[in-house]
Amino acid sequence: MGITTDEEHIDTPHMEGELPPTPPETVVDGEERKENEDSKDLTLFPLPPTSNPPTSVLEVDKKTPDAHVPRDPRLIRLTGVHPFNVEAPLSALYNEGFLTTPELFYVRNHGPVPLVEDEDIPTWEFTVEGLVENPITISLKELIEDYEQLTAPITLVCAGNRRKEQNVVRKTKGFSWGAAGVSTALWTGCLMSEVIRRAKPIRRARYVCMEGADKLPNGYYGTSVKLNWVMDPNRGIMLAHKMNGEMLRPDHGKPLRAVIPGQIGGRSVKWLKKLILTDQPSDNWYHIYDNRVLPTMVSPEESASNPSWWKDDRYAIYGLSTNSAIAYPAHEEQLCIVGAPQKYRVKGYAYGGDGRRVTRVEVSIDKGKTWRLSNIDYAEDRYREGYEQNLYGGSLDVPWRESSFCWCFWAIDIPVEELKGAKDILVRAMDESMNIQPRDLYWSVLGMMNNPWYRITISHENDYLRFEHPTQPALIPGGWMERVKKSGGNLMNGYWGERIDGVEPEAPVEEQVTEVKMTKDDVNQVITIDELRKHDTEESPWFVVNGEVYDGTAFLNGHPGGAQSIISAAGLDSTDEFMAIHSETAKAMMPAYHVGSLDEASRRVLSEGEVQQDPSNEPRPVFLNSRNWTKAILHSKTNVSWDTRIFSFKLEHDEQSLGLPTGQHLMIRLRDPVTREAIIRSYTPISETTRKGYADVLVKIYFDTKEREGGKMTKAMDALPIGHFIDFKGPIGKFEYLGRGVCAINAVKRSVKRLIMICGGSGITPIFQVLRAVMQDKEDPTTCVVLNGNRLVEDILCKEDLDVFARDNVDRCKLLYTLTKGPEDWTGLRGRIGAPLLKEHCIKGAEGDTMVLICGPEALEKSVHSALNEQGWPDSDLLFF
Ligand code: MTE
Repeated sequence: MGITTDEEHIDTPHMEGELPPTPPETVVDGEERKENEDSKDLTLFPLPPTSNPPTSVLEVDKKTPDAHVPRDPRLIRLTGVHPFNVEAPLSALYNEGFLTTPELFYVRNHGPVPLVEDEDIPTWEFTVEGLVENPITISLKELIEDYEQLTAPITLVCAGNRRKEQNVVRKTKGFSWGAAGVSTALWTGCLMSEVIRRAKPIRRARYVCMEGADKLPNGYYGTSVKLNWVMDPNRGIMLAHKMNGEMLRPDHGKPLRAVIPGQIGGRSVKWLKKLILTDQPSDNWYHIYDNRVLPTMVSPEESASNPSWWKDDRYAIYGLSTNSAIAYPAHEEQLCIVGAPQKYRVKGYAYGGDGRRVTRVEVSIDKGKTWRLSNIDYAEDRYREGYEQNLYGGSLDVPWRESSFCWCFWAIDIPVEELKGAKDILVRAMDESMNIQPRDLYWSVLGMMNNPWYRITISHENDYLRFEHPTQPALIPGGWMERVKKSGGNLMNGYWGERIDGVEPEAPVEEQVTEVKMTKDDVNQVITIDELRKHDTEESPWFVVNGEVYDGTAFLNGHPGGAQSIISAAGLDSTDEFMAIHSETAKAMMPAYHVGSLDEASRRVLSEGEVQQDPSNEPRPVFLNSRNWTKAILHSKTNVSWDTRIFSFKLEHDEQSLGLPTGQHLMIRLRDPVTREAIIRSYTPISETTRKGYADVLVKIYFDTKEREGGKMTKAMDALPIGHFIDFKGPIGKFEYLGRGVCAINAVKRSVKRLIMICGGSGITPIFQVLRAVMQDKEDPTTCVVLNGNRLVEDILCKEDLDVFARDNVDRCKLLYTLTKGPEDWTGLRGRIGAPLLKEHCIKGAEGDTMVLICGPEALEKSVHSALNEQGWPDSDLLFF
């Protein structure tokens, strides 16, 4: 499509140019410049990229406890709708540069976001208590007025960053982060040590425990760090109330949070209410049962049955491990090697832990036999190189400090000739203490601190090199790890599941994973769909996994993902989501909630004939099935205009074709996020019918207005998070264009010389498919007249492509646009599509040589129908999509 878009997945190859890479950078300006104007030494350092704070609450969030939090729809949801755990698409994150906008900054919420009204911010209070001589309560207003304010760039990283790689090897107890669980911001606030000093810790105090305001199934979120660290100015531990110069957004701890540089994000408590000094580490449930790397041999069952593993502080994690990832080439990026520039720039990010600087980043294209040194850009240094100055109401607290608390960006140019001969690209970082990323993944029950060499594979397809990242976040399929695992490779054999030339692979290590039993032996009850539906309620939600019925009522309060996710599954078959998200431990808990088995007929009804996987597990060559619903995943959304999007769906595998004949439609089935009722509509994708692996659907969103309620389906689609499944069925439709003037109407063939296509608004999509088929076949003698009606110029969908068809096929394609609200300089037709326009442009030719294809809103179709009949067109020549 030749449409100008806000791409979410930018697949642009990054070609050679000047090194080192230059992240978006700004000279300090505006207010800051005034403060600096006496100085000649104007410091250059990156300021945050332009932020577009989301203003409306997404439909998906409206029925959750976070119904007060506006969010950016580009974020990939990792744990279903709620609680909100998200990362940005990796390319989008990297493209923002050194600093991340708050709307794309990763979020890790264990539960609901506390609601704090703006007017209550100044009076937000927190306490400093425990082993102190002088317990105090401080309001945010006092914190800002009475304590020295500082601003510093700090990278936060979730300990689960890159966990999906572990989950592909063997499911951990954690959900699947990709490599974008990391973000950087300028934080403003005061040093935590200042408030603690005023409370006067007594000698016995060793730890600072923190507690947030978010009430969770196991108490308030809390954790601890050592008091010594807090008091060390080099560690820069802060209480922050601003992020990139603006008040903290709700998801990031509004109005106050801790920011613990160099340590896993889990220590940076949001919505901070308490600092408690103790002589022992925190006894908060989340401190004990989260953020640990247990020894690799501790299985999920062992960790569940023997709590002493969790209480051993040697396994608690604080400082981050050295890590790096490749951003470009992006996942599934393709590099055309015909006429390609000589070099390709491979680039990405790296970070170290506890303030340790990344001192080298190395890249290998021969499986680690040899390495090349990449350039590193430490944007953090540009803050360091300057002098003390004010930024966002805090003095810039970097110049004196030696530690490195931010990620760095690395880049290396590799000759394309050499990439052609390579099978993969590997990257590893080393810090100043020579801590280097390991080759092999260290699997552990929580899947945290995953930091093996980041590897992307290269496959050669005709004139292209295709790059594949190890995984995709959340349930999004794809990545070489999944592919290798599916084809029987042992990912833990030391060679990424592959054979290295000339080296005998080690004997494959059998994965010791046994299927977890999720049913109770003495439960024999057979449950019908009617009984199940009686429990489609918030009070007693029953749901189905693998045909077995579970009563989630008793677990509503205890569910780590919150009650909402159980309620959302009530009355439904949630096998896919359940199996993908839950750990072996969670599965082992299921017998306690097992109430019976769904009878055979009900299973069929529930899944409405969901396509049964072929028992041979052969991949299906064609996606659509006209009797059964099949699932595809929302891969990306591209904004074509403020109300129109291209939804790109990933089919079951890269070689699969959609299976939609030209001129036919498919049905899409969604659940209304609020009422959960199923909504079904038909659409015609705009992607080429021959495209494999994906289907693109152009949708105009009908938003609510003051006058009328918007479109249920289009609003629900707009609210869909990337990575979620949608159901498809088809093809449907009585018309098919077979090519070279041959049409089939209800399978009866008919030849035409001319097609007149009349459409309005998004009615263009089936017309577009047929027109493209005619125009792309230079031997097709059929002529086409397109009469396309819209309100405004910007409402005309696919205009660029339509114009190209008309321009390149002057003899075969006459393209007419008519606008009801055309601008003054509009040279096309004006007015609605009605009798006068049709009389002029829809002229009858010889008997039977023309068909008129019509698609648009009901009113348009009706008026066109009667006008054409009046003009003598028989119904047999008219086709309403
Ligand atoms: N603080 C509270 N009160 N509740 C939480 O759920 N999550 C922690 C930490 N602080 C959490 C919290 C985790 S695990 C991480 S990684 C960071 O917040 C994430 O910060 P962010 O959401 O602002 O990126």
